[in-house]
Amino acid sequence: MKKAFIFDLDGVIVDTAKYHFLAWQNLAKGLGISFSSAQNEQLKGVSRIRSLEKILEWGNTTISEEEFTRLMHEKNEEYLEYITKMDTSEILPDVPRVLDYLISQDQAIALGSASKNARVILEKVKLYDKFHAIVDGTNVSKAKPDPEVFLIGAQELDVSPENCIVFEDSVAGVQAANVANMISIGIGDAKVLHEADYIFNDFTEIKEEFINNLVMAKKV
Ligand code: BG6
Ligand code: MG
Repeated sequence: MKKAFIFDLDGVIVDTAKYHFLAWQNLAKGLGISFSSAQNEQLKGVSRIRSLEKILEWGNTTISEEEFTRLMHEKNEEYLEYITKMDTSEILPDVPRVLDYLISQDQAIALGSASKNARVILEKVKLYDKFHAIVDGTNVSKAKPDPEVFLIGAQELDVSPENCIVFEDSVAGVQAANVANMISIGIGDAKVLHEADYIFNDFTEIKEEFINNLVMAKKV
C-alpha cells in the first residue's frame, strides 16, 4: 500500500522555529510589544503576514501599510541572517533516518510548509532531493489551519487525503491536517499538540514498526 508522508519544515525537519522566534521577538521589542512563549506557539505554522498581524493585535498597535511591509521585510532579513549560516547539523534528530526508511519502503514524501524560505533551507541542509513534491509559502493562498498546503501536496503526489500522514510541530498545522482528513502526528509537547492523532517528542521516538503500521492504517 502506498501512503503519502507530508512533512512540515520549521520545527519538524530543522530547528528553525527558534530563529523565527528570535526575529519576531526583536521586531516586537522595537514596537514596545512583549509576547510570551505561549503566544509564540500561536505563531508557529502561521504565515509571515498573519504573524505580524497577530503581534500588532496583541500590542493593540496599528501601523501604516508601508510600515507593515517594511517590518515584514526587516523580520525576514534578520531571519535570513540565521538561515545563511545553517548546515546539516541543524537537521532535527533522526529526521534523515525516517526519510530514508520511507524512501526504502517506496512511500511518497512531500513538504508542506508555510515558509517562503523553505526551498533555500532544504538546500542548505542537503535534504531537497528526498522530497517528491515541495509545497511552500509561495504555492498557497490560504495559511494553516486552512488545509490548502497539505491538499496540494496530496494532489501533487496523487494520493487521496485519507492516505496522507502529516508531521507537524504547530497547533495550526495539526488542525490543518485534521481538517484535510489526514492522519496528524504532532512533534513536540503533548499538552500543546493534543489535537493530533499521535504525538512524539521527536523523531527518535518514531520506530520502523510505527511507520509500517501507518502504511497499513486507515484514518477512522
Ligand atoms: C512557518 C513557521 O513554517 O513558516 C512560521 O512556523 C513562519 O513561524 C512561516 O512565520 C512563514 O515563514 P517565512 O520563512 O516565509 O517567513
Ligand atoms: Mg512548523
